Amino acid sequence: MSTAFSAGIRTALAGQAPVLEVEELSVRFTRRGEAGTQAVDGVSFSVAPGETIGLVGESGCGKSVTSLAVMGLLPGRGVQVGGSVRLDGQELVGAGDRTLRKLRGADMAMVFQDPLSSLNPTVTIGVQVTEVLRQHRGMNGKEATEEAADLLDRVGIPDPRRRLGEYPHQLSGGMRQRALIAMSLACSPRLLIADEPTTALDVTIQAQILELLRELVQGSGTALVMITHDLGVVAGLCDRVHVMYAGKIIETAERRDLFARPRHPYTGGLLASVPRLDTPRGTALTPIRGSARDAIPWAQGCAFAPRCDSGQDDCLTEVAGTTVPLEDDGPGRELRCRHPLATAPVAGSPTTSGADR
Ligand SMILES: Nc1ncnc2c1ncn2[C@@H]1O[C@H](COP(=O)(O)OP(=O)(O)OP(=O)(O)O)[C@@H](O)[C@H]1O
Ligand SMILES: [Mg+2]
Repeated sequence: MSTAFSAGIRTALAGQAPVLEVEELSVRFTRRGEAGTQAVDGVSFSVAPGETIGLVGESGCGKSVTSLAVMGLLPGRGVQVGGSVRLDGQELVGAGDRTLRKLRGADMAMVFQDPLSSLNPTVTIGVQVTEVLRQHRGMNGKEATEEAADLLDRVGIPDPRRRLGEYPHQLSGGMRQRALIAMSLACSPRLLIADEPTTALDVTIQAQILELLRELVQGSGTALVMITHDLGVVAGLCDRVHVMYAGKIIETAERRDLFARPRHPYTGGLLASVPRLDTPRGTALTPIRGSARDAIPWAQGCAFAPRCDSGQDDCLTEVAGTTVPLEDDGPGRELRCRHPLATAPVAGSPTTSGADR
């Protein structure tokens, strides 16, 4: 793998123009005769070269739909996409299929949660990896095979030449995930979106994959969007974190700030529900009460209010008809909450998945 950038260079990279700018992105699934589902509701974020951001939140909060919208992979029918997605300044919302297909693979790539469903089961791993190299890097067959074997080797797949001739079902879950990452590395994309890439894997493989992603970001200056509900992954990998709830970003902070001083009661609840290195043994974890299904529409107040222990009457009444705004909450921080948690610092960070930086 290429040499990692020094911390100084990475800081400089992080100061560069963003690779990805998402502004007021909204996605609504519509069905005839039904109100439809507002899966993503005015989401804005950006990612610079060499930077890793985390999109965090419970199941159903809109993480995957956000990433599919960025990649232009949502179905054409029954979906309304609004707002703006710019890749190196180029608008992708409303862009044609040809343009998007050209960008995918070469400039932006995605690692999906379920590698089996994103690899073609009837085609060998070798053909699938070399196809990317032939299409996007114009390599001939022999060059592409050499490079594909090298890529599999780089992602830690043993005996890569033999594996190139195998079908996805012949590989273990961890290997399939690595094969997908190899395909996304093939073109050193400007933007990589990794949607829960390690959820189905055991912790050793998980740590290896996170390390691989970290090397990609540091070595190639790729902008990485890491989608996860695992705060350990966030602690190990992300520079900045956006916490989502019911289709909206409810809190944004630098990783360390978020763990040291969660401000939104939902973020506080997420942190209290996972083991932390500084939690004394035997301390019970506190789950957030209720489930994501209890969310109310944002137009009726704060969607989290029915589950919130810090909520007050005005979370539901005074804001009726308006949406609780996302507001500045100190340097690098934004918050959508009328009654945030006190600012007393909480020491430590949760147990990381993979080595912390
Ligand atoms: N094709 C679809 N048609 C209708 N609704 C959909 C569709 N895809 C997703 N949704 C809805 O959009 C919302 C957000 O889904 P999304 O898959 O983005 O959640 P997520 O945050 O990725 O959750 P998870 O952690 O389980 O992967 C959910 O309410 C989901 O039911
Ligand atoms: Mg998802």
